[in-house]
Amino acid sequence: MFTVITGAQFGDEGKGKIVDMMASQYDIVARFQGGDNAGHTVVAEGKTYKLHLIPSGVLFDARLLIGPGTVMNPKILMEEIAMLAENGVEVTPQKLGIDAKTSIIMPYHIALDSLRESRRTVKIGTTNRGIGFAYVDKVGRDEIQMSDIAEKNRLIKRLEEIAPQKEAAIKELGGDPGVARSGIEEYLEIGKKLKPYITDVSKEINQALKSGKKVLAEGAQGTHLDIIHGTQKFVTSSSTVAGSACSGLGVGPTKVDRVIGVIKAYITRVGEGPLPTEQKNEVGEHLRDMGGEFGTTTGRPRRCGWFDVPLARKSINLNGYSSMALTKLDVLTGLDPLKLCLEYSLKGKVIDYPPELSDELAGCEPVYLDLPGWNEDISDARDFSDLPDNARLYIELVEELIGMEIEYVSVGPGRVQTFVK
Ligand code: GDP
Ligand code: IMO
Ligand code: MG
Repeated sequence: MFTVITGAQFGDEGKGKIVDMMASQYDIVARFQGGDNAGHTVVAEGKTYKLHLIPSGVLFDARLLIGPGTVMNPKILMEEIAMLAENGVEVTPQKLGIDAKTSIIMPYHIALDSLRESRRTVKIGTTNRGIGFAYVDKVGRDEIQMSDIAEKNRLIKRLEEIAPQKEAAIKELGGDPGVARSGIEEYLEIGKKLKPYITDVSKEINQALKSGKKVLAEGAQGTHLDIIHGTQKFVTSSSTVAGSACSGLGVGPTKVDRVIGVIKAYITRVGEGPLPTEQKNEVGEHLRDMGGEFGTTTGRPRRCGWFDVPLARKSINLNGYSSMALTKLDVLTGLDPLKLCLEYSLKGKVIDYPPELSDELAGCEPVYLDLPGWNEDISDARDFSDLPDNARLYIELVEELIGMEIEYVSVGPGRVQTFVK
């Protein structure tokens, strides 16, 4: 059984929570793209874990894998392993495997990310984790791989070739070229520690699937941040849609059994880029305050708005979801009326699907349907029938409008605050 979970909006949909909730039923949980730009929150047994690289199945017995489609900052990984150890969760090489080909985020990638962003007249609002520049080097075939930092000679040889162009690029952007050769000793130290974790992720997963084991692929970011299909240029640098799990982990598409989309009962976005239903008013403040909408990685306030049906329709196409998990329904409590964006008005035309271009999406005026809200606290609901009538109506209408079944409903950050509809 191979299940893929992705975010259906602009990230932070609650993927970490849903992966944690499902992880006890899986033998392997794997990250397939992105890096520590991700911030996945797991709330369990009274503790809150903010995970950037380690898959959100870490609290269970599952084997965890970081696939070669990801970009990995080894310092952040070590910090995360230490944080988990402090909380009594040991991440040994038996528990975690990192693919030998995983791209390493070097100090110069982070320097270039921030230098380039500071020079942009129209900002992207990146997380400043060096993600984009690490992927540039993967595509440009100048990457440093996990296997390189585990062997001093390999790393020195790679850097001999790569460092001069990094020095030139950093200098050109007005930065300190010394960064191109900084941190090497520290990376080699970490490389030594991580050597026992190195594995062949594709081989492990294919063997597991052949022997009837269950594998869960955990997406990072969200569909509309996809490098190919998202709202360019306001996107991340990896493919965030479900198909990317196959390429990122080295598993054929015929092996996929389920694709679950995680979607909030409203919408948020961190960083720049179009968000047609954004509410820069007391509704937006309600969603931000009640939903705790501040970036897990950067702490930036998230932009908040009403549920956007056209964007959800596009996500369903791009991912081929078999079902969806609707999260943060509890955050809508106390808002009346509630609004669902059914379609957009663009240059005098009504459209029910997002336009291809970001500047056109930015020009879209949402057409809303008003719905009655509810005031009851729903965070203790454990069954669809526990919800107030108007909350049930909201879910059923969303299902009808997006043409897709909502399998799970989440009404709070805790593991138990979820039910199958
Ligand atoms: P991810 O990046 O998709 O894993 O999401 P984040 O962890 O960045 O952000 C989701 C936030 O919402 C986290 O703080 C979660 O603990 C929290 N959360 C998840 N599901 C729910 C829910 O149903 N209700 C509420 N109130 N919070 C939730
Ligand atoms: P999770 O996995 C929300 C956004 C950044 C920025 C854009 C590009 O927690 O859902 P990058 O650093 O990737 O080059 O930044 O992408 N972004 C995210 N937004 N959730 C995330 O991850 C994100 N990862 C990147 O804010 O707009
Ligand atoms: Mg997040």
